[in-house]
Amino acid sequence: ELTLKDAVGDQFLIGTAVNVRQVAGKDTNATNIVKHHFNAIVAENCMKMEELHPSEDVYDFKAADDFVKFGEENGLTMTGHVLIWHSQCPEWFCVDKNGKNVSPEVLKQRMKDHIYTIVNHFKGKLKGWDVVNEAIVEDGSYRKSKFYEILGEEFIPLAFQYAHEADSTIELYYNDYGMDNPGRREGVVKLIRSLKEKGLRIDAVGMQGHMGMDYPKIEEFEKSMLAFAAEGVKVMITEWDMSALPTVSRTANISDTIAFKKALNPYPDALPDSVSQAWNARMKQFFELFEKHADIVDRVTAWGVTDGDSWKNGFPIRGRKDYPLLFDRNYQPKPFITEMIKEK
Ligand code: XIL
Repeated sequence: ELTLKDAVGDQFLIGTAVNVRQVAGKDTNATNIVKHHFNAIVAENCMKMEELHPSEDVYDFKAADDFVKFGEENGLTMTGHVLIWHSQCPEWFCVDKNGKNVSPEVLKQRMKDHIYTIVNHFKGKLKGWDVVNEAIVEDGSYRKSKFYEILGEEFIPLAFQYAHEADSTIELYYNDYGMDNPGRREGVVKLIRSLKEKGLRIDAVGMQGHMGMDYPKIEEFEKSMLAFAAEGVKVMITEWDMSALPTVSRTANISDTIAFKKALNPYPDALPDSVSQAWNARMKQFFELFEKHADIVDRVTAWGVTDGDSWKNGFPIRGRKDYPLLFDRNYQPKPFITEMIKEK
């Protein structure tokens, strides 16, 4: 029986994020899809800062070790996600006991300990690490995170430096969302240049690829792929999914009326055929874009296996039921996947 990874062939790795239930064999249908259709995995949550390093003296590698064992047993290429990120970062990391920002020296030491310990722990197991996630905003400037507040721009090169010191063989990535945005594109290009000017290693840029029916513009996404590649790094689509629902603002107020709530969850039972067709067509367009640039694309990874386990259910509004992934709630491949497999 033909598979997605057969259809993709050696163009690029085809991956998926997996959750701890899938690793633990508590969702065997999804686990079978992972083994059958994909050749790369990333942990959806269990390698994040708060999971691996919940308090200063405590590292917890249990779930992540299970993930790695699963990957090894099934011959899957694994990526680490993520070393430094303002989100899902444990409370203690950037502040002292009184809640005040720690000094630059203390934060540097914490980053160094954190990165050294974690990169070392997984030495020889992973192909690469998302070293820093989501640090550049839409006007190309730096996100005003705690890391930036305390260390300024330096926190990014430091993270890359520490990761390389811990394991000189591992690939290092910068990862971000909304990469179609021209301002962020410019900011990321500048960042790659400045890392390279400092003699630091950066192998690829991860474009998360959280999409909707009306964003991103495919041309802008392509421009960014080419702009990053022109700086001498590979490109990866690291967290691909596409909401099938009308885009709503993260800050939308859902409390006013029932009608408004319905607008937020327009297709609670099933996706209308017309929407499903449009979604499949748009996914196919993007997939063809990735194939067109297979010479610069190293990996395409979906952010979850089936619609049922996508983080987009409930994002940006709680209770939303979405249809963003390559497999549906009944573990069936979406039409564009089936078609693609047939065509090969
Ligand atoms: C998401 C996970 O999918 C959720 O389960 C979790 O509750 C929040 O984080 N950008 C990233 C990912 O880099 O780590 C995020 O994953 C989605 C957005």
